[in-house]
Amino acid sequence: MNKSDLIIIGAGPGGYRAAEYAAKNGLSVTIFEKEHVGGTCLNVGCIPTKCFARNAEVLLDLKDATEYGVESLNLEFNYQKVVQRKNGVVDALRQGVESILSLPSISVVKANAAFKDEHTVVADGTEYVADHIIIATGSSTKTLNVEGAGSPQVLDSSDLLSLQSLPESICIIGAGVIGMEFASILNAFGVEVTVVEFLKECLPVLDSDIAKRLRKTLEKRGIVFHMQSAVSTITDEGVSFVNKKGKTEYVKTEKVLMAVGRKPNVEGLNLDAVGVSLEHGAIPVDSASYSVVNTEGECLERVYAVGDVNGRQMLAHAAEMQAVHVVNQILGKADDIRLDIMPAAIFTNPEAACVGLSEDQCKQQGIDYICRKSFWRANGKAMAMNETEGMLKLLSDKNGLITGCHAFGAHAADIIQEVSALMCRNTKVEQLADMVHIHPTLCEILKAAAEVPA
Ligand code: NAI
Repeated sequence: MNKSDLIIIGAGPGGYRAAEYAAKNGLSVTIFEKEHVGGTCLNVGCIPTKCFARNAEVLLDLKDATEYGVESLNLEFNYQKVVQRKNGVVDALRQGVESILSLPSISVVKANAAFKDEHTVVADGTEYVADHIIIATGSSTKTLNVEGAGSPQVLDSSDLLSLQSLPESICIIGAGVIGMEFASILNAFGVEVTVVEFLKECLPVLDSDIAKRLRKTLEKRGIVFHMQSAVSTITDEGVSFVNKKGKTEYVKTEKVLMAVGRKPNVEGLNLDAVGVSLEHGAIPVDSASYSVVNTEGECLERVYAVGDVNGRQMLAHAAEMQAVHVVNQILGKADDIRLDIMPAAIFTNPEAACVGLSEDQCKQQGIDYICRKSFWRANGKAMAMNETEGMLKLLSDKNGLITGCHAFGAHAADIIQEVSALMCRNTKVEQLADMVHIHPTLCEILKAAAEVPA
């Protein structure tokens, strides 16, 4: 019989991290993957997009070359090389994951797995049994239910990353994380970009003030935004939408990017066999243990769901840390992982990032808060880098405890990471102000905010 301590379904950041950590802690693991190991993040998500984002950054810097005293540059953009470099990075990282999964106590099965019962899955007609099962099947692109949504010129982010040549124009539907990252990248690559977004502001995860400033920065670079607009039809030549005044408008475009969110991958898992029904399309889990909750509202003792499939925080690093937390429980190990403090970044140019509460959330929830601001333009390193666009908001409660930080500006993600670490240790603003920061660095933008009087 195929028996192991732990079965994992899906070899993305949640699945492969769980496998590695479990194996290094003495468990035998069988991991199922129907496509490439590495999941969306490595193959068609975070990593390839960040390769493109780096290309975009280089291009934008070169466009400003004369400001740095570099004259008479003759720029020629070779998109094939951009794709080759991206493929090289993805291949190298995928080999890294394959080598992790080649540990003797891990068996990789390249097949779809479906539940038979709480201890058994079936793949290609063979049964596999384990004491514990982790579901880590990720998510895929949601599609709008409008006429023309299935046309060949409508792409999702994976399709876009595998294009061999760039379109002249693109209409991006949705100004969320995927939409904004691609808008920024494709604009830098010279594509004419139009974004149509349903809500009043882009990036709903971000403080609206910061999101607005970021959008205005991108508008100055030539990206056209239609906010509070709902797409009605997609034709071979363009996209029709109803604008905020109720009028129908039309954007002529060569390609369309569908970026209106992602949905958990649950098809084919046969969740009925373990008595589980979806909640808002996701597998319901217990907040503390990430155990799957059945239709009776009871936790399945030995079945867990981590990452995008549980619909909680659709972020690769959330999946990884949820996975480690679940394996710790299987090992009987207590941990101090703060899954309630989840930093996130949006790799536009400039970057945006956040952790914890935004000022909007404090207002909506009636929380007594103090908001301190600081700006890239007042920071020496930012000026030296010619990266003066940006703003940071540091939020604390009335006792000074840091409760959130939202920012946009060069390397915002690195700054937010510092706040995230401080929040995990319940730090107060005055303690942050007392901490020495290297001069000159962008991290001094955070210290400057902490030094603003309450
Ligand atoms: P999202 O939820 O971030 O944004 C979707 C956007 O589409 C929203 O602003 C929404 O208002 C808009 N929308 C929905 N229906 C619409 C309609 N009919 N017309 C116009 N706009 C409409 O989803 P997105 O960008 O697809 O990303 C999916 C997930 O992937 C997110 O959870 C995100 O966190 C994750 N992700 C994370 C990245 C990172 O950490 N850097 C990078 C890329 C994705």
